[in-house]
Amino acid sequence: MAKSIIWTLPSRLIHWMLAAAIVISWLLGEQDEFINFHAAFGAMAGTLIIFRIIWGFIGPKYSKFKDFPLCFTNIIKYLRNPKEQHLKYAGHNPLASWVMSGILVIGLLTVATGFAAYSAQGNGPFASILPDAEAKEIKETHELFITILIPLILLHLLGLLSDFLRFRSVGTVWSMFTGTKNIEAEPARLNFLQKVIISAGLLSSIIIFYIVLNSPVKQDGNKEDAEHHNIEMIDHSRD
Ligand code: HEM
Ligand code: HEM
Repeated sequence: MAKSIIWTLPSRLIHWMLAAAIVISWLLGEQDEFINFHAAFGAMAGTLIIFRIIWGFIGPKYSKFKDFPLCFTNIIKYLRNPKEQHLKYAGHNPLASWVMSGILVIGLLTVATGFAAYSAQGNGPFASILPDAEAKEIKETHELFITILIPLILLHLLGLLSDFLRFRSVGTVWSMFTGTKNIEAEPARLNFLQKVIISAGLLSSIIIFYIVLNSPVKQDGNKEDAEHHNIEMIDHSRD
């Protein structure tokens, strides 16, 4: 069976580093004692998303945004006859293209509002650029974006499951590990400049991780919970 390289090594590295950074950041979101790790993994995710967006303009075939079939008529055609249409798309199919773009946009907004909340609480490299009074509102916006991001990631995983069940022979699920799909298609290739730019991107995501991890943390964010907890402690000590 024909095999074609669809996801080059840098695309796969961005994918797995981004997936890990988002999942770890999400798991640490409510642990006040690990807020600097939460922020650092989130910042790493943000840097990777920025480079993935740059990759969408200067990257190889299939990773470029012009290769994302986002047009509405493509979705209709795909939904009407998925079996026939599926083989037309060596990269993302129309539905996947929307979900992937959504993950990138909402992921970036999640990181931006996380940074703003962190700074307003007096933490991190941009501490105090925003007034403390706004911390609560910004934190709520951060939470709103997270509640959109998580279903998008679940949709991505559901899409992969449906791909696995209906078009197993194409090998889409494994393509993010191996880079190849079992189809005949123009292979994705990298030139020297692309390799240099994306290596700089991957390296800078690790540097940003260290900068944010080691920047000062003035307080844990959950001031209201902490105050509430203190009041309860005083009440109990009176009993
Ligand atoms: C849990 C967090 C995850 C996030 C945030 C995430 C995010 C993304 C993004 C943004 C893309 C687009 C990649 C690009 O165009 O360069 C993508 C594609 C892809 N992801 Fe994930 N992913 C996650 C988990 C997974 C898992 C667990 C798998 C399992 C194998 C997986 C397999 C794939 C595959 C195969 C594609 C390409 C799909 C296609 O050919 O249309 N992802 N993912
Ligand atoms: C994709 C990346 C991110 C994800 C998935 C994520 C997820 C979360 C989650 C699940 C929470 C807990 C919300 C709750 O209490 O219900 C949270 C809170 C928070 N996040 Fe993020 N976050 C991300 C990025 C960031 C970044 C980059 C920063 C800062 C640089 C940040 C700063 C904060 C702050 C300050 C809070 C509030 C903590 C508190 O006051 O208890 N987040 N985040």
